[in-house]
Amino acid sequence: MENTLALDLTIEKTAHSRLSQVDLKQPIFGRTFTDHMLSADYMGGKWTNVRIMPYQDISISPALSAIHYGQSIFEGLKAYKNAEGEVLCFRPDENFKRMNKSAVRMCMPTIPEEIFMGGLRELLNLDRDWVPAGEGCSLYIRPVMFATDAFIGLRPSETYKFLIFCSPAGVYYSAPVKVKVETRYTRAAEGGTGAAKAAGNYAAAMYPTKLAYQEGFDQVLWTDAKEHRYIEEAGSMNIMFIINGTIITAPETDTVLPGITRKSVLQLAREWGVPVEERKPGVAEVIQAIQNGTLQEAFGVGTAATIAHIKTIGYEGQLYELPDVANRPFSNRVYQELEDIKRGRKADTRGWVMKI
Ligand code: COI
Repeated sequence: MENTLALDLTIEKTAHSRLSQVDLKQPIFGRTFTDHMLSADYMGGKWTNVRIMPYQDISISPALSAIHYGQSIFEGLKAYKNAEGEVLCFRPDENFKRMNKSAVRMCMPTIPEEIFMGGLRELLNLDRDWVPAGEGCSLYIRPVMFATDAFIGLRPSETYKFLIFCSPAGVYYSAPVKVKVETRYTRAAEGGTGAAKAAGNYAAAMYPTKLAYQEGFDQVLWTDAKEHRYIEEAGSMNIMFIINGTIITAPETDTVLPGITRKSVLQLAREWGVPVEERKPGVAEVIQAIQNGTLQEAFGVGTAATIAHIKTIGYEGQLYELPDVANRPFSNRVYQELEDIKRGRKADTRGWVMKI
């Protein structure tokens, strides 16, 4: 992936790097932020004021449109170090495209490619020493855009801020996860915003997820809004089941986030000749497959989560234990393949890696 885009960008470097205070060998997901961030403002119908500056707090009006009416969207992507110490970023063009789809759905302006991709490249170049090299570690990159009008009338904001900031990260799930099939609450309904990476989707998921935590689960398995009979996704990741050798995962409809790890896993599966069915797995179908031993694997796929093995599924008060993680050939293989591609240990034959 080459950068051919012209970008009018000012760069203010920090005079006080915090890098020496951070243990990059054991970074905790989402807690520490690198020295710099990219910032751009949308006003008067165009993006302006594009700059890289020291990572810092921002001040907001109490009437900030985003905090009242929720026009806020974000992305998540990762950068890695290869054996030569070069920085590799995984499929940023997909995040760029998805962010703009989210923007359209949430009635927000789209971001020009030179700002997202060009700004990201400059930011990663500047903060390259923050990319952890250890296995399981990465630099998590968070682009975010939100409405900034200081106005509490209900209408789309006329001004927005776009930021990209980064956080050295370790693993998101440190062990196989225990999920609860949600049959009361809903993450997304047809015609809603489920396919957008909109902040409000995550807010709506918090209460049911808290209830699931209280019952000892790590995550909720969201089902369809109408009947709660079909599995859609897991909130922090898409979800895949392997039953009788076939991968079954919900298709990209307007109730499912179009995950980039999801897309990558399905492409690898098809290249390897593994059958794939993009349809919503039935809850009854999954439970029956566990009971009759035809469910071979279940795993979440996401940027933060990478490939997260599911160890237990809870449904209507019953716990169903899944096969041992060591006996899951596809999810273990695809995890390894993706790690090898992301870290430059295998050739990037698909154009998935942007080298900084
Ligand atoms: C990601 O995987 O990048 C996400 O945005 C999920 C979030 C819950 C951490």
